[in-house]
Amino acid sequence: MSDRTVSALIVAVIGLGLIWTLFVRAPLPAPSTSGDSGQAALSPGTVPLVTGEEPVEVILTRAGCPVCHTIPGVTGANGKVGPPLILGRTGEARLKDPSYHGSATTIAEYIAESIMDPGAFVVSGYPSATMPTWYGTKLSALALEKIVSYLERQTEESGVSGK
Ligand code: HEC
Repeated sequence: MSDRTVSALIVAVIGLGLIWTLFVRAPLPAPSTSGDSGQAALSPGTVPLVTGEEPVEVILTRAGCPVCHTIPGVTGANGKVGPPLILGRTGEARLKDPSYHGSATTIAEYIAESIMDPGAFVVSGYPSATMPTWYGTKLSALALEKIVSYLERQTEESGVSGK
C-alpha cells in the first residue's frame, strides 16, 4: 500500500468520506443481505459508513459485500453475483489478463481499484455495472486498507482470519 496510486485512492476516500459526513449524514440501517442478488436492497442509503475500527469481517458485512461475494472466513458470505474473493489465488491472473487495462501493478492495488473503481476491469463471466460504484463514499481509508490486506491473503482453502 505504498504506491502512489493507492495513496491517491486513499486521499480520494478520505475526501469523499468527509463530504459524505458533512452533507449526507443521516441515520442508516444495516444493509439487508436477503434476496437473490440483494441489488435492490443495497444502496448508499442502506449501507452505513464504516470507520475501519471494526474487525474486517464486520467491515465486509456492513458494506454488504457478502450479498454478492463468497468470502472465505466471513460467516454468511456466500453470494454468487460476483466472483469468490480469493485474490490470493486469482489476483495474479487478473493482472496478467490481456484485457486488464487498469493501473494496478500489485494484487493489493488491484483489490483497491476493484472496490473504488469497479468499472476499471470486469472479471469475465460476471456482470458489468453491477458492483456498487459508491464504496469510496462509505469506506474510510483504514477500512479499505483492512479489506485489501484481508482479501489479498484469501485462497479457496484458507479462510485466514485477520484483523
Ligand atoms: C451488488 C453486487 C456486489 C456487491 C455488493 C459487491 N460486489 Fe464486488 N463485484 C461484483 C461483481 C458482479 C464483480 C465482477 C465484475 C467486475 O469485475 O466488476 C465484482 C468484482 C469484485 C472484485 C474483483 C474480483 C476478482 O476476482 O477479480 C473485488 C475485489 C470485489 N468485487 C470486492 C468487493 C468488496 C470488497 C465489496 C464490499 C465492499 C463488494 N465487492 C461488493 C458485485 C458486487
